[in-house]
Amino acid sequence: MVTVALVGLGDIGLGAHLPALLRSAEVRLVAVADPVASHRDAASALVDGVVAVGSSLDDALATGPDGVVLATPPWATPELAIAALRAGRFVLAEKPVATSVAAAAVYDALTAAERARLQIGLTYRHDPAIRRLESWIGDGVLGGPLLVRAHIYDERRDPADGEHLDRIRGTLAHGMPVVHEGAHVFDWLAHLLGPGGLSVDDAWALRTDADLPAPNLTGARLSHPAGHRVLAEFGWLTDALPRCELTFLGPRGLATLDGATFDLRLETAAGEQTVVFPGERGPRCFDLQVARFAALVRGDTVAPDPDLDAGLAALAVAERVATRAMDGVTA
Ligand SMILES: NC(=O)c1ccc[n+]([C@@H]2O[C@H](COP(=O)([O-])OP(=O)(O)OC[C@H]3O[C@@H](n4cnc5c(N)ncnc54)[C@H](O)[C@@H]3O)[C@@H](O)[C@H]2O)c1
Repeated sequence: MVTVALVGLGDIGLGAHLPALLRSAEVRLVAVADPVASHRDAASALVDGVVAVGSSLDDALATGPDGVVLATPPWATPELAIAALRAGRFVLAEKPVATSVAAAAVYDALTAAERARLQIGLTYRHDPAIRRLESWIGDGVLGGPLLVRAHIYDERRDPADGEHLDRIRGTLAHGMPVVHEGAHVFDWLAHLLGPGGLSVDDAWALRTDADLPAPNLTGARLSHPAGHRVLAEFGWLTDALPRCELTFLGPRGLATLDGATFDLRLETAAGEQTVVFPGERGPRCFDLQVARFAALVRGDTVAPDPDLDAGLAALAVAERVATRAMDGVTA
C-alpha cells in the first residue's frame, strides 16, 4: 500500500483530492497539512483522527509518506514540490506548475531522477472523453484541418459567497484565467492536435469590473502547424457565465465536449451520437489520477503521466496568450 500525505487543504484539496485519496484502495493517507487552522479543522472532521494533521510540508514529510499530493496555489507549489522531491518523495503537484515561465525556471535545478518522481495534476487529461476525442481526431472521423473553439467559463461571481470571491480575486492577482484554466486546455490540445506547438495570432483581455486585480476575460486566436485554428476564450467572475464547452469542427464532422460533464456529441453525415461515460467527471478523473500516481510510486510505470514537461508546455502557451492580450490593454 502506497502511503501519501496531502498538503494544501483548500477548495480542491478538500473537495477533490482528499475524497479521491480516501476512496482509493491503492493508497493510504497518512498526513494532511495546511497553514490555515480552519482548513486543518475542516480536514480533521473528514479524516476522523486517523491521519496526522500538521501545518506545513515539513510536518507532512515527518510522517514518512512515499508520496506527497500538493493541492497548493501555483505561487507556492514550485518550492514545495522541489523540497518534497529533494526529500526523496514522489510528488503529485497541482497545475499550473507555476504562475509564469520565469517562476517555473526553479524546476531547471531538478535532476532527471527527481523529475521522474514528479506527476502534474493535469487531472482531466485522464478522462476517457479525452481519449475518445483523440481517437475521433486521430482516425480522421472529423477530417481536417480543424476549427477548435474552446469556451472555458467558470468561477461565476456569487455576491453572497465572499470566500469564493476573495479566493478567485486572489488567484486573478497571480494571472488571468488563461494561466490557470489554460493549463488544462492547452494540455488537451497538445494531446489532441499532435506535435508542434500552438502559435498565438492575436489575443485580447477585458476587465469587466474596474476593481478586479487583472482582466477576468481573455481570448486568443491560435494556429497549429498542421493547419488547425483555435479560438479560445477564458472567463471568470461575471454574475452569469456563457456555456463552457469545446467544439472540434472538421470537413467531415463536429465533436462537442461539454466542459462541465465531459459528455461528448459527434455529428457526421452518418448521423449523431452522444457518448456519456459512467460517473461524474470530477471524481472519475481524480480517481484515475490517484491510480496513476500510485502506479508511479510502486514503480509499475517508469515515467510520470503527465510529466513536468507537459505542465511547462501548457504554461508556455498560456503565458504567450496572456502577454499578447496585455499588449493591447492599458492598466
Ligand atoms: N486539477 C484540477 O482540476 C484543479 C481544480 C481546481 C483547482 N486546481 C488547482 O489547485 C490549486 C489550489 O486551488 P484551490 O482552489 O484549492 O486553492 P485554495 O486557495 O482554496 O487552496 C490552497 C490551499 O493551499 C494552502 N497553502 C498555501 N500555501 C501553502 C504552503 N506553503 N504549505 C501548505 N499549504 C499551503 C492554503 O492555505 C489553502 O488551504 C491551484 O493551483 C488550482 O489551479 C486544480
